[in-house]
Amino acid sequence: MTRVEPAVTLKGAIAVPSVKGICQRGVLFGAIADGETVVRNFGHAADTESAISVARQLGAEIVEEGSDVVRVQGRGLRGLAAPDGPLDCGNAGTVLRLASGMLAGQNGSFELVGDESLSSRPQERIAVPLRELGATVETTEGRAPVRITGGPLKPIRYELPVASAQVKSAILLAGLYAERGPTTVVEPAPTRDHTERLLAEMGARVERRPGAASVWPVERLDGVDVDVAGDVSSAAPFIVAATLLPDSELLIQGVNVNPTRTGLLDVLDRMGARITLFNRHMVSGEPVADLEVRWAQLTATQIDAAEVPLLVDELPLFALAASHAHGDSVVRGAEDLRAKETDRIETVATSLRALGAHITATSDGWRIRGVPSRFRGGRMDSAGDHRIAMLGAIAGLVSREGVEIKDAEAVAISFPGFFELLDSVVQR
Ligand code: S3P
Repeated sequence: MTRVEPAVTLKGAIAVPSVKGICQRGVLFGAIADGETVVRNFGHAADTESAISVARQLGAEIVEEGSDVVRVQGRGLRGLAAPDGPLDCGNAGTVLRLASGMLAGQNGSFELVGDESLSSRPQERIAVPLRELGATVETTEGRAPVRITGGPLKPIRYELPVASAQVKSAILLAGLYAERGPTTVVEPAPTRDHTERLLAEMGARVERRPGAASVWPVERLDGVDVDVAGDVSSAAPFIVAATLLPDSELLIQGVNVNPTRTGLLDVLDRMGARITLFNRHMVSGEPVADLEVRWAQLTATQIDAAEVPLLVDELPLFALAASHAHGDSVVRGAEDLRAKETDRIETVATSLRALGAHITATSDGWRIRGVPSRFRGGRMDSAGDHRIAMLGAIAGLVSREGVEIKDAEAVAISFPGFFELLDSVVQR
C-alpha cells in the first residue's frame, strides 16, 4: 500500500520520461534497419525494457550508453533470427503488436508471449490483417501466445474495425515486406502516427492523408538518430494535478505535442484550463513544446468516438478532472478502454467511486457528475495497471483525506520515479 496525502498546491519545473512508444519503436525498427540506430533520451521503464529484450532475442546487438542512450545495431530488413524460446513482451501491447508486423515478413517461426494482463488482451485484431497479407498467424483463443510464420506478403487495403495505432502500425510494418505497394490502412478516427513519422525518417515511402496511411515496400531502412521528447501521457498526471490544485503553477519542459497525442490538452482547454504551449520546435520529426499549467476552475464537457484516440491513455485522468468540474460530463465511443492493461472503464469507475466521485460506467465510457470541491478519498486498487496507479496518486492530492493505493509499484511500467517527481513539486 502506498499512501498519497492531500496537497495544497503544486509548483515547480519538471521534465517527464520520454515518449514510451517512440523509444519502443526506435529499438524495434532499429533492429530491422541497416546500420546503427541511436535512441537518445531513452526512458528506461518496464515497457521500454521489453522492447530491448525482444529486439535482443531477435538477434539485434544493443548497447546501453550512460543512463539514456541506447544503440541498436540493425540486422537488416530480413535479418531477424528466430530465438530458441518465446519472445517475452512483458506488459507491453505495443511491443507484441508491432513486433508481430515485423515478423510477418521474416523467414522463420516466432512465438510471442506476455504477462497475465497482456495475455488477456485481444490479438485477432492483428492476426486477421496479417493473415490477409499472407503470414501464418495463430492466436490462443484470440489472445497471446501468438505464433507467426513469415512468408511472401502481398499488399492490402485494410479498414480498421477499431481505431488502433498498434494495429495500424503492425499492418504498415508488414507492408514494408510486401511484393509491391501500397499497403493502406483506413482508420475510423485518427490515431497516433509515431510509426509513420519514424518510418519516413528511416527512408520509407509513407503517405498520410486524413483517415488513411500507406506504405510502399523498401529495400532497406536506414539507421537513424532519434532524440525522444517527454511523453504527454506521463505529463498528464501533473497537468491534471496542477489544474485542480489552487494556485498551482507548473512548467513541464520538452513535451512531445504531436497533434495525434494532445487530445487531453484540447479537452481541458474547452473545460476552461489554463495551459500554455511555448518554445515550439521539431525534434526527430516530431513536434515538441514546453507547457505551462496554472490552476483553473473547470466546466463539464463531452467526448465522442472521433476524439477518443487522441487521449486514449489519458481518459482515466480526464474522468478525475471531470469529477471536479461544474456540471455533468460524458465519454462515449471509448469501448476499447475495456481492452487495455485492465478494463479501464470498470477500473476507473470502481476506483473513483470508492474515493467519493459520482461516476457511472456505461458500455462505452462514463457519465460523470462533477462536484467542484474535494472528494473524500480512501482506498483503491491499481489492479497492476500503471495508468490507474497514477490516477490514484493524483486523486490523493486533490482529496480531503488522502488515498491509499494497492499495487502502486505498477507505475514502473511506464514511469519509474513517478512518486519522487510528484513529491518534488507538491506543497502540503
Ligand atoms: C499505443 C497505442 C494505443 C495506446 C497504447 C500505445 C502505441 O493503443 O493505448 O498505450 O504506442 O501505438 P491502441 O492503438 O491499441 O489504441
